Amino acid sequence: AKTKKKAYFEFLKTKIDIIHGPNLNLLGKRQPAIYGYESFESFLSNLEDKNKDIEISLFQSNLEGEIVTKLQESNAQGIIINAAAYSHTSIAIADAIAAINIPVVNIHISNIYQREKERHKELISQYCTAGIYGMGYDGYVFALNYLKKQI
Ligand code: DQA
Repeated sequence: AKTKKKAYFEFLKTKIDIIHGPNLNLLGKRQPAIYGYESFESFLSNLEDKNKDIEISLFQSNLEGEIVTKLQESNAQGIIINAAAYSHTSIAIADAIAAINIPVVNIHISNIYQREKERHKELISQYCTAGIYGMGYDGYVFALNYLKKQI
């Protein structure tokens, strides 16, 4: 039975979940001067092509509770989260991150510290393993490479 189990897990690919919060479904169209002109789907299909050994799945929701549930139910080995505006306001998402035991990288596409004051405060970052801001979509490439080393 032991050898069977090993073969089964060797067959499984490493799974990384990307979790996106409100308005990130509009990337590519939304304030392109800040977030760029490329859709996230187009960037992601490129990232997947370059990381065929990893199963990357994208979950986007405009609803806080759905993000909490996704964090609770994730069966990935690592999470990349851009909780968007909820990063600055959500104790519920912060609690959900604190409750799980897998590495979580916190991402912001823009440099939140060069923007409005209300974006300078983050409620989720203290519970994340690492964080990246201001690198555009490149942040996701760095986050994935970091998680590959942790797993
Ligand atoms: C963001 C920054 C947040 O302040 C903002 O509410 C977003 C996007 C970013 O990726 O730069 O929606 O998380």
